[in-house]
Amino acid sequence: MLHNADLGWQLGPSLERIGREIDALFDEVLAGDDDVRGRLRDAMRHAAVGGGKRLRPLLVVGSGALFGVPRSLALRAGLAVEALHVHSLIHDDLPCMDDDDLRRGKPTVHRAYDEATAVLAGDALHALAFELLADRHTHPDAAVRAELVMELARAAGASGMAQGQMLDMLGGVDDLAQVTRLQRLKTGALIDWCTRAGAIMGYASPEARASLAGYALCLGLAFQIADDLLDVEGDAGSVGKRVGKDADKGKQNFVTVLGARHARAHAEMLVEQGIDHLKSFDEDAQLLCDIARYAIARDR
Ligand code: IPE
Ligand code: IPE
Ligand code: MG
Ligand code: MG
Ligand code: MG
Repeated sequence: MLHNADLGWQLGPSLERIGREIDALFDEVLAGDDDVRGRLRDAMRHAAVGGGKRLRPLLVVGSGALFGVPRSLALRAGLAVEALHVHSLIHDDLPCMDDDDLRRGKPTVHRAYDEATAVLAGDALHALAFELLADRHTHPDAAVRAELVMELARAAGASGMAQGQMLDMLGGVDDLAQVTRLQRLKTGALIDWCTRAGAIMGYASPEARASLAGYALCLGLAFQIADDLLDVEGDAGSVGKRVGKDADKGKQNFVTVLGARHARAHAEMLVEQGIDHLKSFDEDAQLLCDIARYAIARDR
């Protein structure tokens, strides 16, 4: 991948911190005793606690910081989108979808438990996301909470991630325009929600929201190109999931359509474009710029 020796140093402490914070919050929210919910809770914890880059929560924190949103509130919205993301990973790994057995360096939920438990743990994490957003501890303003909920529903649903996953399963995508459309929905919609969430919570101006939307569009695509490249060039030890699976399954993505070299160049161009959208925020957007560079320099 596109290693940059400085990146670990720049974003490393932020990633470590958000990782600790999200783990602690999941620990709190998914605490449970040995009652009948034990198995479902355990499966949710298996998927949600530990591992994962927590890039989506970091994006919420980074965009919220532009508008003075307190970190503790941004973290709760970040926890919500991470719960939704983990739901999508559990279901994405199921035998009826990508049929994967390794996720975040651990057996996938249907491997560690069983398929029914994996479907239900995914469902429960999906519901948890909306419960967290609707909770008054996430934001004192009910109108803000309603907008967060509405926008996440849109990002996750039939005009967003679920539709992207449908296109991915259907196949038949064979040019750059079609792959771009698919990946915008599959991965981009949730990433867009992350930057939108900070803006919603901080009552950002329409101009600021438009800048963030431009950034998020570029970032989402670049991020998915890196994911596709890691499937070809990464190793399971660092990536934490099996590699070579897209080719095995005959999936079309940026790498199959463009070739690895052009896909990487395309991702680099998207990152520069994304950063360009943040110019009006000056140095306040440093974290978001670092995230964009990390999105394609990562090895996991
Ligand atoms: C993987 O997302 C699935 C995609 C949408 C490409 P991440 O690469 O963010 O996975 P984690 O959260 O770090 O495990
Ligand atoms: C999954 O895309 C995207 C979602 C979960 C919505 P991939 O199938 O490429 O993700 P990985 O490679 O399994 O993490
Ligand atoms: Mg998939
Ligand atoms: Mg997959
Ligand atoms: Mg992938």
